[in-house]
Amino acid sequence: MDDVAYYIGIISGTSMDGIDCVVVSLRNGHLDLLATQSSKYPDELRLKLFDVCANPTLTLLEFGQLDIAVGKAFGNAINHLLETHKIRPEAITAIGSHGQTVFHSPSSQDAFSLQIGDPNTIAHTTGITTVADFRQRDVAAGGQGAPLAPLFHQFYFYHPRGSRCVLNIGGISNITWINTEELSTPVGFDTGPGNALMDLWVTQWLQLPYDADGAWAASGAVDKVLLDRLLAEDYFRRPAPKSTGRELFNHKWLEECLKGLHTIEPADVQRTLLELTARTVADALLETRPDNGGSTKVELLVCGGGAYNKTLMCRLQELLPDSRVSSTASHGMPPDWIEACTFAWLASKTINRERVDTRLLTGSREPVVLGGVYFS
Ligand SMILES: Nc1ncnc2c1ncn2[C@@H]1O[C@H](COP(=O)(O)OP(=O)(O)O)[C@@H](O)[C@H]1O
Ligand SMILES: [Mg+2]
Repeated sequence: MDDVAYYIGIISGTSMDGIDCVVVSLRNGHLDLLATQSSKYPDELRLKLFDVCANPTLTLLEFGQLDIAVGKAFGNAINHLLETHKIRPEAITAIGSHGQTVFHSPSSQDAFSLQIGDPNTIAHTTGITTVADFRQRDVAAGGQGAPLAPLFHQFYFYHPRGSRCVLNIGGISNITWINTEELSTPVGFDTGPGNALMDLWVTQWLQLPYDADGAWAASGAVDKVLLDRLLAEDYFRRPAPKSTGRELFNHKWLEECLKGLHTIEPADVQRTLLELTARTVADALLETRPDNGGSTKVELLVCGGGAYNKTLMCRLQELLPDSRVSSTASHGMPPDWIEACTFAWLASKTINRERVDTRLLTGSREPVVLGGVYFS
């Protein structure tokens, strides 16, 4: 019997560089990536989202309108992908929509994580059952709502032997230590900034969305005083479970660290921000290595847009001589699509009412079925 099912995954990450959308097939616990698309938000909407993340004070009217505008952008992106690849909406079992995070407040007493992109609008625009609000259910179960990608890393990159770690460098970075027991929960957490601060700085000085290949950073030198100030942040010493976002690592945080450092060259700041990402990832890896610094090389599989930053990848390899650093592309999945695949795969779990165990990842109290279902 052919028990294949098709799912869509869609996400816009903290970088807001694009709406990533994939179609996958799931057959006997095996996932194949069938179609991919990255599309931009309309300019005005993107600017509004950046503004809301920097100044989260908006009226209920503005909030409601933004929620629906993101839902429409997601729905339109999905319709475009299906038309391009001549896939009928009826062929898709469900969409897993992560939405756009606009506020992530994981550690306060009144923890919450807010993703927008109205799933009613997505279901209505596409005619496809939509699963959303994955993080909210985890928060309700006592978790931080993040990171969830390690669940997919374990599923897709599982290997029975050796030390394998998946590093996702998006706006924020997170690592996953693959568990050598196939169906177990891996250990994973957010290490801190990924590309977010580097993007912010290169936009401010060169009006570019990102520092392609890390070339600008490579032209500068690490400023020791600045690096020490950046590394002094408490977050880096906090034990897991932990997750973070732009609420902490933002323009204000960077400006605070730059206070009084008037003579520092902009390119040196960029190089120092790259060093911050590399150092905090490397330190987190060395501190949490499950085999206690065992003798085998760690296989470090890098995904997220940061995998394209050559300077960052080289620096990671230098800081981790006992690891073999490579892009997930050399392990069957281009680095761009892993997060979208994560939510396609999680949607299949929700539709099948499968509980997922996030206790080691988010600190939730019990396994739960994540997400809410909006039927077509
Ligand atoms: N060629 C490249 N060189 C350097 N950095 C890149 C390159 N391509 C993408 N990036 C970085 O990756 C980011 C997007 O990564 P992504 O994984 O989509 O993050 P998020 O999940 O936060 O959206 C960009 O904002 C940019 O910083
Ligand atoms: Mg992105």
